[in-house]
Amino acid sequence: MTTKRILLDCDPGHDDAIAILLAAGTTRAELVGITTVAGNQTLDKTTRNALAVATVGRIGDIPVFAGHDRPLVRPLRTAPRFHGESGLDGPSRIVPDRDASSGHAVDFIVESVMSSPGDVSLVATGPLTNVAAALRREPRVAQAVHEFVIMGGAYGPGNVTQTAEFNIFVDPEAAAIVFGAPWSVTMVTLDVTHQAGCTRHVQRRIEELGTPVGGFVSRLLEFYRGAYLRHTDLSDPPVHDPCAIAYVLSPEIFETRSAAIDVELTGRWTAGTTVVRFAEAREPPAGRDLEHLDPRHRVPVRIDSEALYELIIEALRKLA
Ligand code: BDR
Ligand code: CA
Repeated sequence: MTTKRILLDCDPGHDDAIAILLAAGTTRAELVGITTVAGNQTLDKTTRNALAVATVGRIGDIPVFAGHDRPLVRPLRTAPRFHGESGLDGPSRIVPDRDASSGHAVDFIVESVMSSPGDVSLVATGPLTNVAAALRREPRVAQAVHEFVIMGGAYGPGNVTQTAEFNIFVDPEAAAIVFGAPWSVTMVTLDVTHQAGCTRHVQRRIEELGTPVGGFVSRLLEFYRGAYLRHTDLSDPPVHDPCAIAYVLSPEIFETRSAAIDVELTGRWTAGTTVVRFAEAREPPAGRDLEHLDPRHRVPVRIDSEALYELIIEALRKLA
């Protein structure tokens, strides 16, 4: 089996940080680059955080490129309630051991994908601004990726509004471009990430690795747990973003269905909602013609959360 090559576009963010460490530490794939976008915090902070995570994980050979500092159309909305003022509150502040690479994230995405067609697993765990811009710059990116996996969206309840999830809500126009492109998007939604809350037992196992990386992740999880306890009724915080990396590493730990996906752009109450129609829904609701729908996207509906955390712990151990 050839090793998959992952390019991660992210907005760290506590769970993005764990996604970076999972992708960097796993032996099942190679992380070839990190690109950053504004989302959980402003771009300067998400980029600094990506560099700080790379410093803790001692993954200095992986380039980090900064991308767009705001959504395509709307003003930026950040998430300090869940990620703090720095975007990575909790562990003591880490001074990155290097700067971001010179150049723009969108150029790096386009060049990485187009220079090696069929090779790159592109994963996005923040708003889809950079990916939409890459598709506009070079539409052949859609055919040239090996696969494209995102954390975002929901077919059940949202986490910003009743129906919208944060990453899609922040830049729905970018998401509409991404879902409308001629490729298959694997969308790992809240419905799945909420099945995989991080228990105190798992957090203890990470702490007990006894390494700088283990301590760092445990402190991230402690802050994140507190934020979820304050703002939701979840006591075990869903660690959303690593689920998208896990899909690339081990798709068999998910149950996945085919679906058509559209993004609501104008609804007064529903802007940023992903409208998911599963292919198996053979009987269209009365008066609706679903014949024209193209269920080319993939939506996991179940995850083996034990297997997810085994992947994460195995990767963190490798980074010791
Ligand atoms: C998503 O929003 C962000 O706050 C997280 O990093 C994750 O990507 C969950 O809705
Ligand atoms: Ca994120």
